[in-house]
Amino acid sequence: MPGRYIAFEGVEGCGKSTHVKRLATHLDALITREPGGTVVGTMLREILTNPANTQLSPHAEALLMAADRAQHLRELVVPALAAGRHVVSDRSVYSSLAYQGYGRGLDLAELRRLNDFAIGSRWPDLVVYIRVDLAAVRRRLAKRDTDRFERADDDFFTRAIHGFEELAQQEPNRWLIIDGTPPKDELELIIRRAVTERLGV
Ligand code: TMP
Repeated sequence: MPGRYIAFEGVEGCGKSTHVKRLATHLDALITREPGGTVVGTMLREILTNPANTQLSPHAEALLMAADRAQHLRELVVPALAAGRHVVSDRSVYSSLAYQGYGRGLDLAELRRLNDFAIGSRWPDLVVYIRVDLAAVRRRLAKRDTDRFERADDDFFTRAIHGFEELAQQEPNRWLIIDGTPPKDELELIIRRAVTERLGV
């Protein structure tokens, strides 16, 4: 039996990283992330997140994200799934639609084509979208040094949130919408139950 490909999505401050770890541990899944899941991806992530790269154009940003993803799918995700291992990823192709598409304003149909090429049409089986509002983003970013993305303004994050909401509505069978406000331990169980219900894992 091939493994299942589960991606977590949501804006900064939604608690994704904690729940990626918890669900991956529970499922004994491969835990990974975009950008930066591979050695090459770590290098691309440094370019993408470095606040000194103020000149990076939205198109270059989209292509670097897609390059990270192309490597990630071929080096890690697809082989793990083929070997019967579940994969839990912190972000996926849908982050590009939300951030580069809705956020930066790049054409969504072009981004879908570019990214479909990058991932060899292997879209996640399930997207766990942790829904929080802009206030949660601001609370999170107030607590730490910000990277290049985190320096974006409220309008950018508002557009990204709107993007995730629209994407979730377009594919209700692929997306799970999880309210991000309950305490961590409670949320962990909510996610676990919902994933089992959807995928039978
Ligand atoms: P992270 O901090 O959640 O690991 O992600 C790094 C940043 O990259 C985050 O602000 C979201 C952004 N991002 C995109 O803009 N497009 C993408 O395709 C991905 C995967 C992440």
